[in-house]
Amino acid sequence: MGLFITFEGGEGSGKSFQARKLTKRLQELALPVVLTYEPGGTPLGNKIRLWLKRVDKFEVSPLTELMLFDASRAQLVNQVIKPNLEMGKIVICDRYTDSTLAYQGYGRGLNLEMISTINNAATLGLIPDLTVLLDIAVEAGLARKKNRKQDRFEREALAFHQRVREGYLKLAAEEPQRWLVVDTSQSKEETAGAIWHRVTQVFSQRGAPIT
Ligand code: TYD
Repeated sequence: MGLFITFEGGEGSGKSFQARKLTKRLQELALPVVLTYEPGGTPLGNKIRLWLKRVDKFEVSPLTELMLFDASRAQLVNQVIKPNLEMGKIVICDRYTDSTLAYQGYGRGLNLEMISTINNAATLGLIPDLTVLLDIAVEAGLARKKNRKQDRFEREALAFHQRVREGYLKLAAEEPQRWLVVDTSQSKEETAGAIWHRVTQVFSQRGAPIT
């Protein structure tokens, strides 16, 4: 049974931790799981990732940024996500198309319809079965990351991150059947528990219950 789960959230939301935790838990049940991430997840994508996160020496326009994220994504879908889903595996992706709507759309102000068109082209229309949004207050999220070297996105103004957060919440409200919104002010264990609960529901709905 191919199942596609994505994790989304702002800076410091603990998304990568929860994606790893869910992967481990599914592996412990001997289920076939592949964990990947964006931008990157392929050799070409990892080069693009470096350009996107670390370039300080030259300008990157918002439209170019959009194209680079979707270039990395097109490669990832083609090389990793689609083939593994076709083999019946569970694919968990740390960020996906909704990141582009939240960051380049709500954050940078690019047209949302245009982004959706480009996202669709890059993914061949592949939509996640479940998207987990780890919601965190912007200040709290950024504070969790402040001791590390910051990338181009983490250095953006508070107002940018606020728009990203509100964008995510709007996207989730528009499609409640696909999204699970988890408030990360609770403990990591409680957050993981809420995610696990929803994942088990998805399996049951598909007639393949897990415990
Ligand atoms: P990463 O280190 O992966 O951040 P995180 O741990 O928060 O996932 O860096 C990815 C950055 O790129 C992050 O700030 C969000 C941003 N991003 C976009 O702006 N658009 C996108 O489409 C994607 C996938 C990421």
